Amino acid sequence: MKFPDQFLWGTATAAHQVEGGNAGCDCWILEHLKPTYFAEVSGDACDQYHLYREDIALTARLGFNSYRFGIEWARVEPEDGEFSTAALEHYRRVLAACHEHGIAPMVTLHHFTSPRWIAASGGWEASATADRFAVYCERVTAALGDLIASACTINELNSVPMLQALGYLGADERILRSRWRSAAAKAAGVEPAMWSAFPFCTRSISLNVILRAHRMGAEALRSGAHSFPVGMTMAMEEIVAEAGGEARCKAVLEAEIPFLEAARADEFIGVQCYTRHRMGENGEIAPEAGIERTTMGYEFRPIAIGAAIRRASKAARVPIIVTENGIAAADDSRRVAYIDEALDTVAGCIREGIDVRGYYYWSMLDNFEWLRGYEPHFGIIGVDRKTQRRIVRPSAEHLGRIARANATAP
Ligand code: BGC
Repeated sequence: MKFPDQFLWGTATAAHQVEGGNAGCDCWILEHLKPTYFAEVSGDACDQYHLYREDIALTARLGFNSYRFGIEWARVEPEDGEFSTAALEHYRRVLAACHEHGIAPMVTLHHFTSPRWIAASGGWEASATADRFAVYCERVTAALGDLIASACTINELNSVPMLQALGYLGADERILRSRWRSAAAKAAGVEPAMWSAFPFCTRSISLNVILRAHRMGAEALRSGAHSFPVGMTMAMEEIVAEAGGEARCKAVLEAEIPFLEAARADEFIGVQCYTRHRMGENGEIAPEAGIERTTMGYEFRPIAIGAAIRRASKAARVPIIVTENGIAAADDSRRVAYIDEALDTVAGCIREGIDVRGYYYWSMLDNFEWLRGYEPHFGIIGVDRKTQRRIVRPSAEHLGRIARANATAP
């Protein structure tokens, strides 16, 4: 299958998961609490803050034409209203390196982590966060807009409502997490304590705040001298009802509607999908015995991306970009199999007439997988944790060949 001209072929990362030393954000504090929900601390991550040139050159050489990466709010605005010219200059160099290598840079302005001062002043439960996010977006666009090819405002802004509808983040977990947040506040010496490295420890998000943040952030990004497409990214898995699970299934699908409707005002919507969730009467039910599972414990289900694309396209009615899709696997041949089946599914959606404009594999590198630490390996490129040496896997060569040909093999 030949993909449309100008199709974007990329890999994706998030600032906190690859940069390293991101000590100004809320997640850093949460990782260092004792006890903590995190398996380990992020530490130097993949040191991409220093190694970005090599990583960008490597993916360009492999055949990719785009790269989705994060700009870290905590670095750009380390204190309320205090902007770092040096951090903005750093991201200018990253963006320039992309252009030097023929890579179209897609940036994400918020990928789960917030500056400590945002978390301490109410996080995503405080309405002022939307205004502050817009100011940050305005600064980024003024400093970097001429080099940005496309931008995602907030990564998976629907993740908390989605997890709640799936049956997670229930009352018990909320109490536990609120105790944990108070400990975080104490450790950082700040009050009040509304830690929200969402979705890992937030009690809730306010739909109004997050949707307003997206809208105002997007307007700010569009207000610069240079225009580029702007959208949100959505966590959208395949959702199916098993016996008795019809109401739960409906609730999960309904929870995404306000977001998909808000996306109608954008130039694209980013769809992110990894697996399928089967809903039973009391919440999610595990994959059937004998079904292949990934390192994350998810059902191996590359065709899930089709359900996500179709749902997003129907409700949002804007072009689709697959901004994340991938698998954590110890055996790289399963990654190759996953990619092939997922791309066949994307190609099928395009044949049905859906306007899909790009595919970003998660992830470029084995990186800091949040609560799970460095154990799950999502990368088409491995990372030696002692030396930071990059290890190109066969899946990287495989997807790179497809990208260069803009076609999958017959
Ligand atoms: C998130 C990533 C995460 C990935 C794999 C996505 O939902 O955006 O940050 O690493 O899933 O779990």
